[in-house]
Amino acid sequence: MSVTARAKISNPQSILARKGGDPIICLTAYTTPIAHLVDQHCDLVLVGDSVGMVLHGLPSTIGVTLDMMILHGQAVRRGVDNALLVVDMPFGSYEESPAQAFRNAARVMAETGCGAVKLEGGSSMADTIRFLVARGVPVVAHVGLTPQSVNTFGGYAVQGRGDDADRVLADARAVAEAGAFCVVLEKVPETLARTITADIAIPTIGIGASPACDGQILVVDDMLGLFTDFRPKFVKRYAELGHAAAEAVAAYAEDVRQRRFPAPEHVFADTLPGEKT
Ligand code: KIV
Repeated sequence: MSVTARAKISNPQSILARKGGDPIICLTAYTTPIAHLVDQHCDLVLVGDSVGMVLHGLPSTIGVTLDMMILHGQAVRRGVDNALLVVDMPFGSYEESPAQAFRNAARVMAETGCGAVKLEGGSSMADTIRFLVARGVPVVAHVGLTPQSVNTFGGYAVQGRGDDADRVLADARAVAEAGAFCVVLEKVPETLARTITADIAIPTIGIGASPACDGQILVVDDMLGLFTDFRPKFVKRYAELGHAAAEAVAAYAEDVRQRRFPAPEHVFADTLPGEKT
């Protein structure tokens, strides 16, 4: 495969078939214009519940609602033609029971047109994943650091160090056996991510994990340098759009202050036949 080519239209089966093959390219998106951009290059586009922190200024993902996910899912749907669209199930929308998870996942799929949902949790979510998959809901699992559990973890620390590695490995095995078609591994030691990737039959999508994972994902605002509140070690900045935007706003403010904007080319003559307004 060339450096820019990728499978044309992605679906859960084509992602699953990439196990051990060409790396699966994934990014988040929350709006139509960014979705258009990432769809050119990605196999999978995730409407992550990170939207709460990145676009809505929430302190964590805990306050994200199903309605927020559906609204952003619909916006991203309008910008995605080729990649598989996956929408996160927010905190509180699936943990209570498999029936609750199905009811809300069905709503997300019907109202956004996404091809799969993602939910956080390992062994404790295996029955729910099995229930959803048996009823036509493809599931991306998410183990390791699961940000919706920030209050039980007591922060955003690396998961699976030392003796804790067995727990994360067991979680990855459990979601694979339950029928998830891929699993996000977040913030786990590099060697553990390698071990899990070699151990389970479904693709692993790393974020703060390992280049050996079957795919990689980042929050798009992180890698574009648009979200600058904090910068996890696992983020590589491919642009500094936040700085560029700050400089542009400062230049605009100075132009207005100095009456340099609007310039003659930005204003209208009294009359000019045929001029568009
Ligand atoms: O919410 C999100 O953006 C995510 C990715 C970081 C995997 O879950």
